Amino acid sequence: MKMSGDKMLASSPMLMFLLSLLMASFFHTTAGQVGVCFGQKGNNLPNPREVVAMYKLNNITRMRMYENNTEALNALRGSGIEFILDVPNHFLKLFADSQTEANAWVQNYVKNYHNDIRFRYISVGNEVKPGDQGTALFQAMQNIDKALSDAGLSNIKVSTTTYMGAFTETFPPSHGRFKDEFLNFLQPAIHFLAGKGSPLLVNIYTYFSYKDSKNDDIPLAYALFTETNPRVLDNPHTYQNLFDANIDSVYAALEKSGGGSLDVVVSESGWPTQGGKETSKENAKTYVNNLIQHVKNGSPRRPGKPIETYIFAMFDENDKPEETPVERYWGLFSPDKVRKYDVTFN
Ligand SMILES: *[C@@H]1O[C@H](CO)[C@@H](O)[C@H](O)[C@H]1NC(C)=O
Ligand SMILES: *[C@@H]1O[C@H](CO)[C@@H](O)[C@H](O)[C@H]1NC(C)=O
Repeated sequence: MKMSGDKMLASSPMLMFLLSLLMASFFHTTAGQVGVCFGQKGNNLPNPREVVAMYKLNNITRMRMYENNTEALNALRGSGIEFILDVPNHFLKLFADSQTEANAWVQNYVKNYHNDIRFRYISVGNEVKPGDQGTALFQAMQNIDKALSDAGLSNIKVSTTTYMGAFTETFPPSHGRFKDEFLNFLQPAIHFLAGKGSPLLVNIYTYFSYKDSKNDDIPLAYALFTETNPRVLDNPHTYQNLFDANIDSVYAALEKSGGGSLDVVVSESGWPTQGGKETSKENAKTYVNNLIQHVKNGSPRRPGKPIETYIFAMFDENDKPEETPVERYWGLFSPDKVRKYDVTFN
């Protein structure tokens, strides 16, 4: 008995080690992977075939795309890249009003590609606001979901992308809740996502909170993940960076709205290199590389649970409005395919 007991003791560290290797490789190959948004509001971008080659060369294994662009969908065939496709906001009303139109869209842009493209989610809408689009959102989600299941594609999850502007009282994070005018139209969507075990997609930009903060009450380091001491105490949690505070305020809001079981996917995050306060390649490099490492470990409210995250964006986009120069310079790459700063994805 003693012998085998000793053997157990001797072998268990080995077992733990092997297990931890297994776990590490599991997270490494799935949940820990960070994707990049392929925004296309530029008139000088490389063609989609070159773009997909750039993703592969740089070990970027996930993409979010905002338009049902057939050239890009064809380029993605066989790439192995996992993919989020948006239903653009201007189609929400059309698809809410017509199951036939929703079916056609799913047929043309999902079903026709699903053998060769690894769809993760269809995001019905991006940063949808109260008003006509908000009113149409839930019905559009339902119609796209029905179109997918009728096409035999119920494994592809439907969600929607919201943003920090939909939330209020996000400080301290536990006080976070949806603004009433957003909850009005998002409540049925939250219920739907909870019922399906699907995540909510949320764009989280510490940059904008930092830029818009009054009296400098958000220090740059807190926004860039370089703060070395806890800054916010929200019993029992402490916060050392604004990204965690933001995502946990979203979790707090979901818990108050029947969505406590939902995962949050960070569908956009990044830092611009020019055009505004504290924009630089140096700060962007710091933010993006810290983000990639940070999301492997979850947030205080969901410790140890990797956060699926997409960096905004692949390229600088010169078709964004000139009045808001900061919108144009979020790229990891310039349109001539030159890397603006070093990022390590794997
Ligand atoms: C991509 O991954 C491969 C294999 O792990 C590595 O050799 C290569 O340097 C990586 N490329 C970049 C641009 O990080
Ligand atoms: C996307 O789908 C809509 C609706 O089916 C269609 O009208 C539009 O032309 C498509 N967009 C692109 C870029 O192909």
